[in-house]
Amino acid sequence: MKIIIVKDQQQGGKKALEVFQAALNQGAEVFGLATGSTPETTYTEIVKSDLDFSQKISLNLDEYVGLKADNPQSYRAYMQQHLFNFKQFKRSYLPQGDAADSQAEIQRYNDLLAQYQVDLQLLGIGKNGHIGFNEPGSSFTEQTRKVKLTPSTVAANARFFASKEDVPQYAYSMGIGSIMRAKSILLEAFGVTKADAVAAMVEGPVTPDCPASILQQHPDVTVILDQAAASKLSR
Ligand code: GLP
Repeated sequence: MKIIIVKDQQQGGKKALEVFQAALNQGAEVFGLATGSTPETTYTEIVKSDLDFSQKISLNLDEYVGLKADNPQSYRAYMQQHLFNFKQFKRSYLPQGDAADSQAEIQRYNDLLAQYQVDLQLLGIGKNGHIGFNEPGSSFTEQTRKVKLTPSTVAANARFFASKEDVPQYAYSMGIGSIMRAKSILLEAFGVTKADAVAAMVEGPVTPDCPASILQQHPDVTVILDQAAASKLSR
């Protein structure tokens, strides 16, 4: 893992832009994208930049089950608001939250991932070490599936909803097996609330208790941290 420590999330976004630029220079065609507050500055920098994704493919990690694409809390709406309204990709895919047939939707997404190998996968990390919506205990080999969110993740995401009761209990998520197939991975974490998860990911044992710890076994991972998120690393 290559660890880059920056002053704050703003600087993190600028560093991440450099990683996207380098990927494009190396011919990347398929970008795995993430949501949450963590990648916001990265998307701001991409939007301000002259990077051109108009012939590229994007595939998002996850989506809440049950939300329509135009629901403001859906990850599709997040992506429109933060990136796609300003930078268009040739095609952008997310799981469809309100798909009538869950199994067919999971199959559709896995077929897309089989068709398009991700060149650069952007990731955040949950306070419990989850990536995508792969909560502790998730298998390291699974592909896209429907997952039940843990109470801690529901509580953490409640800030985006009117009340905790409104937070969906299930999501579609690329599995850890899908994430590990990406040729390169960029994980960002900012703030002291992520410090324990970051320490477990980088220095702890590789264990499903901390899903992100599997990234120690990926050959090309860059981690961008602010000082607070890096504060529990011993080295
Ligand atoms: C959600 C998302 C993850 C994200 C995590 C952390 O659970 N599914 O992809 O990394 O939250 O979110 P934030 O960046 O807002 O801290």
